[in-house]
Amino acid sequence: MKRFTPWWIRIPVVFFAIVGLMEYSIDSGDQPAFIAFPITLLFLGLILLVLIAIELILDAVENVLFQGLSVEAKERYLAEKNKPIRIAWLHKIWIALIGKKAEGITDEAIILDHDYDGIKELDNNLPPWWIYLFYATALFAVVYLVRFDVFKDYTQDEEYEQEVAVALAAIEAYKKTAKDLVDINTVTLLTESSDLSSGKNIFESNCVACHMADGGGGIGPNLTDQHWILGGGIKNVFRTISEGGRDGKGMIAWKQSLKPVEMAQVASYVISLGGTTPAQPKPAEGEVWSEEAPQE
Ligand code: HEC
Repeated sequence: MKRFTPWWIRIPVVFFAIVGLMEYSIDSGDQPAFIAFPITLLFLGLILLVLIAIELILDAVENVLFQGLSVEAKERYLAEKNKPIRIAWLHKIWIALIGKKAEGITDEAIILDHDYDGIKELDNNLPPWWIYLFYATALFAVVYLVRFDVFKDYTQDEEYEQEVAVALAAIEAYKKTAKDLVDINTVTLLTESSDLSSGKNIFESNCVACHMADGGGGIGPNLTDQHWILGGGIKNVFRTISEGGRDGKGMIAWKQSLKPVEMAQVASYVISLGGTTPAQPKPAEGEVWSEEAPQE
């Protein structure tokens, strides 16, 4: 008949334990399960109803049993029930931290002599939590002094360098996952075979009509030779694909229909065609382009 925790602790604890279990066991991706699968809300609602029903039944049973008790037993029971809830060990720690005046000491015994316009001061002990904090800061200072002033573990400058290095590494890692961030200034030649094969797919579905499947050229120029009308190298090729060729020539700006990463992939693929021998190469157009002496 004795219940240790009140209902307003029991119901939420059990309820959220079930919610947690549900979230843990249902794979709902980034979203919580009760948003991804609204039906689970119904389930949780039912659980809540059942929990409340159990509490009501227990209460009723308790009441019936209570009526059957003798007068003293009722008193004992009520006294037990109305005791404030406290968790013994937490309570002990709490008392130890706030400190208590020793038994039998009255305010009169510890009042100080001085009197500030009627305001008086008690000579209470300092609260233990405060003293512990003071000791902790003193200990911290000693460790700090020895570590940084005596043994010179590292300086603020070194710490700064380390953090910058970590941050730069994080930026690199982020850029790898966010390839869509590339633009004309940051684009680099992609060499991963996955990127090149994506580039090949993009080329085959968008570019072959004018450049031929092997890049030999048709309406558009030959992409396999050393000559470039609009400049070679990943940056120029990316820019040509993104912004298009000269007006009226037929090479449109692809930035409307391709994502930046796709343009970087197809540009890298185009460059990888360099030096291959197409079936029917179109005669070279433009200037020979080399990385060393870029011609704009
Ligand atoms: C409608 C035909 C057409 C299609 C489709 C086309 N191009 Fe072009 N492309 C051209 C023409 C024409 C030029 C020459 C532009 C100029 O002279 O300004 C050209 C130029 C280029 C150049 C520059 C060549 C140089 O010598 O500087 C590259 C790189 C290029 N195209 C890549 C692509 C890619 C990649 C695709 C597919 C996403 C594509 N093109 C789709 C017609 C096309």
